[in-house]
Amino acid sequence: MADWRQSFHLEPPQGWLNDPNGLCYFGGFYHVFFQYCPTHANGSGPKHWGHYQSPDLLHWTFTGTPLHPDIPQDKSGAYSGCAVLCGDTVRLYYTGNVKHAGPYDYIRTGREANTILVETPDGIHISPKQVLLTNADYPADCSLHVRDPKVWREDGIWKMVLGARSLADAGRVLLYHSDDGLAWRLARVLEPQPAFGYMWECPDCFPLEGRTWLSISPQGLPHGETENQNIYQSGYFELPGGIESGNPGPFTEWDMGFDFYAPQTFEAPDGRRLLIGWMGMPDADYHNPTEALGWQHCLTVPREVTAGPHGLRQRPARELDALADGAPSTIRNGTAVLPLPCRLQGVAEGDFSLTLAGGLRLERDTGRGLVSLRFTRDSLGGGRTIRRARVGNAPLRLDILVDRSSLEIYLNDGETVFSTRFYPDEPQVPLVAEGLPLTVQPLRPMEFCGMQKKD
Ligand code: FRU
Repeated sequence: MADWRQSFHLEPPQGWLNDPNGLCYFGGFYHVFFQYCPTHANGSGPKHWGHYQSPDLLHWTFTGTPLHPDIPQDKSGAYSGCAVLCGDTVRLYYTGNVKHAGPYDYIRTGREANTILVETPDGIHISPKQVLLTNADYPADCSLHVRDPKVWREDGIWKMVLGARSLADAGRVLLYHSDDGLAWRLARVLEPQPAFGYMWECPDCFPLEGRTWLSISPQGLPHGETENQNIYQSGYFELPGGIESGNPGPFTEWDMGFDFYAPQTFEAPDGRRLLIGWMGMPDADYHNPTEALGWQHCLTVPREVTAGPHGLRQRPARELDALADGAPSTIRNGTAVLPLPCRLQGVAEGDFSLTLAGGLRLERDTGRGLVSLRFTRDSLGGGRTIRRARVGNAPLRLDILVDRSSLEIYLNDGETVFSTRFYPDEPQVPLVAEGLPLTVQPLRPMEFCGMQKKD
């Protein structure tokens, strides 16, 4: 029997999950909030915030649903936002979504996007809500789509970026400044010319290795054979000159797989920059069969982000190395039965292919300098087809996390990553490897507590 419950990825206990929210380390715990619709596995109900916490990124407790859409200014959903440490508490900034009933287009009419603040001492108990900004406070040439605050403090100033869509249908970031994190003034509208998509969701501005980076989830980019293959994208620009005045360099996608969107980064206590993404895709034409079982979607594992010669690199957080369970085995040009979960590692000198569960093929074509990830069996991929990435012809290092219904494929130390869901019929899957030796490391499941809790 298939068991599609993940063993080391965060999932909702029941219902629907999308973006990671409010990521932080505080009071001895990592806190991972997430967009959560506990009542509808298809995500059709109003969004709440769910909450997981962990002392070590290995033992997770689901503590419930701390943030509900329960005031007029967030009545249609407590949308995405962030966490900032402030003394003994954590401030959570998020978007209160309001949709009015009527004949509206919900772009220029019929919608409100309110920037709201709450405080929490523990991720569980939440203060009364303070509405800080409404649509009247955003630039007059913005549409009503303004959301997903990411707040940080720099040189004694509070700074916030919001994602937005202009009235001319251009994606943009609004930068605000504040002395106290309560009263905000507009400092900059960052909008490339010509427009780069019609809407930017989930902006995140962060420093790394002395440089400034801006992550966004843009909508409306043109699709290509190896670029922007999903309906919506997530990627980053370097901002030489910083967020105040710098102009974006080239855009690089975070992940070339079918299922990755709306990532957020935060700083671990030891200074590492960790990234978590939603392993899902809004409005995709493929599906997840767990929806019929009452839950849908998961988050990626936490990924360490570093700057490399060709942009940012991602690798699974080193804490996950402790999931190794038992002795690894090696296969070369052969067939094996993989226990799920497991981790596959190897180096391919030239062309290779890996076929999992008789219907998911990872293949390299050195003639074209491409790697592709292709489903050849429709039920295994829920309608997913093929995704490609350019990787050149040098030896290729592979590090693949295989959970019960997902893969995260890290190539060349995370210069290129593919994330996808897959739905094998059995908890052990056949693997056919051609063209490279592979080490198979069985993993043990993480511990999840509180999953039965109903709100
Ligand atoms: C991204 C997003 C955000 C929004 C949230 C609503 O997936 O659309 O822009 O805040 O999801 O759930």
